[in-house]
Amino acid sequence: MAHLGAHLAFKSRWHKTDEELCRHSTSLVLHKAIRNDFFESYLFLLEKYPLARNFYKDVPATDEGMMGDFSDLSNTDIQSSREFLRKFVGGPGNAGTDFALDCGSGIGRVSKHVLLPVFNNIELVDMTEPFLEEAQNYLQKEADKVETLYCYCLQDFIPTPKKYDVIWMQWVSGHLTDRDLLIYLLRCKNALKENGVIIIKDNVGRQGCRLDPIDSSIIRDIHILRNIIERTGMSILAEEKQKGFPELCVPIWMIAIQ
Ligand SMILES: C[S@@+](CC[C@H](N)C(=O)[O-])C[C@H]1O[C@@H](n2cnc3c(N)ncnc32)[C@H](O)[C@@H]1O
Repeated sequence: MAHLGAHLAFKSRWHKTDEELCRHSTSLVLHKAIRNDFFESYLFLLEKYPLARNFYKDVPATDEGMMGDFSDLSNTDIQSSREFLRKFVGGPGNAGTDFALDCGSGIGRVSKHVLLPVFNNIELVDMTEPFLEEAQNYLQKEADKVETLYCYCLQDFIPTPKKYDVIWMQWVSGHLTDRDLLIYLLRCKNALKENGVIIIKDNVGRQGCRLDPIDSSIIRDIHILRNIIERTGMSILAEEKQKGFPELCVPIWMIAIQ
């Protein structure tokens, strides 16, 4: 439990440190040092414990729960995801349509609306058990296409080598530190079949890297994300910004990697 206390202390102090101590510091160097130290300690904590577990235990296993405050945008999100996916599957040289893995699946919102209409088999992996329990009802008659539901943190999950045509990661990469994301992407690279593709869909900040104190995720800018992807030895096939979300939202990007 000690780490939860530390987490809550971090959450409440972060804003104060950033807003008051750092901003009003007369020394820019000191400001930067405090900020960096603070952020590094936070990342250290995040690598040791999946802090988001605390947040998701109170999130309902519903579409609304998966979409936060933006459940009315689920259809817009799904429509764009379908169109984006279509570019990389089926047809010569593209990924096959046999097997997909939904990472950080939650109750299976993406699986149900984006992956199941395209793939013969899917698997879901998520760290929150009640979401996976709900997935079996939520996916309804299509549930028999689900081979396995893995209740794992992505930090501990090793997808089977050469199994998947598409690996989809939506709104979960921000719960992994740079180091953990790099390691996980390398495992996913190993788990792709020939012509297989990884698709990351996530919030992408306008500049730099910042903490979302609500769900303990990290919002990276596109350069940081690209840099992590490049370090896996894979290439970016395409990037597309999600359209139709309000301007006040953090921009959302879809990135296809191979
Ligand atoms: C915002 S929800 C998105 C769910 C789904 N991808 C969607 O778009 O509807 C984030 C999901 O990531 C899961 N999650 C967060 N951190 C995780 C981790 N380290 N490993 C596995 N799942 C994680 C949560 O349990 C939650 O189901």
